[in-house]
Amino acid sequence: MKKVKLGILISGRGSNMQALMKACQNYGFPAEMACVISNNNKAAGLKVAEQAGMPTFVVENKPLDVDKIHEILVQHEVNLVCLAGFMRILKADFLNKWHGKVINVHPSLLPSFKGLNAQEQALKAGVKVTGCTVHYVTSEVDAGAIIAQAAVPVLPNDDIHSLSKRILSEEHKCYVEAVRLIAMLSRKLERP
Ligand code: GAR
Repeated sequence: MKKVKLGILISGRGSNMQALMKACQNYGFPAEMACVISNNNKAAGLKVAEQAGMPTFVVENKPLDVDKIHEILVQHEVNLVCLAGFMRILKADFLNKWHGKVINVHPSLLPSFKGLNAQEQALKAGVKVTGCTVHYVTSEVDAGAIIAQAAVPVLPNDDIHSLSKRILSEEHKCYVEAVRLIAMLSRKLERP
């Protein structure tokens, strides 16, 4: 069966990208990696992707060259764009072209703690449970339809590092499951 092709957008470490890469190495996983794009030529994740033999690209950051991103994604026949720690906002005209095909992972239980430093926001708010969300990307930041979530406890002695680490390990699982779900559903909707 045809696999769904993923285009991954990163800005930094790329651990969510790596979780997706690892899942894609499984024969039965319904998606495959097509390319990795970064707005940051120093993103650590770029090296990891290169070493794994992935086609990697750096695009102009100021202003963000969304036309180039679009071109690379089209060239690589991408079906689903996965933002994985991509720290730039994508313009509405790009999102219109890729409507329903861009997803993101965010380190909170949306709609709580949108935007930057979600883990710190959770600590400051004193919540006892936070988590992560995989959601569709729309022009309203962190507000698109929710695909998957996982809850994570906030422990009494947590600091930003311990909490972020606990959330991140759930992000990796949640992102893989969300991609599996979308890829399997989209294949089911294909005509025979
Ligand atoms: C992750 O925690 C991700 O949820 C967050 O950046 C980190 C990237 O880590 N993204 C956002 O906050 C987006 N609003 P990674 O580069 O190791 O995947």
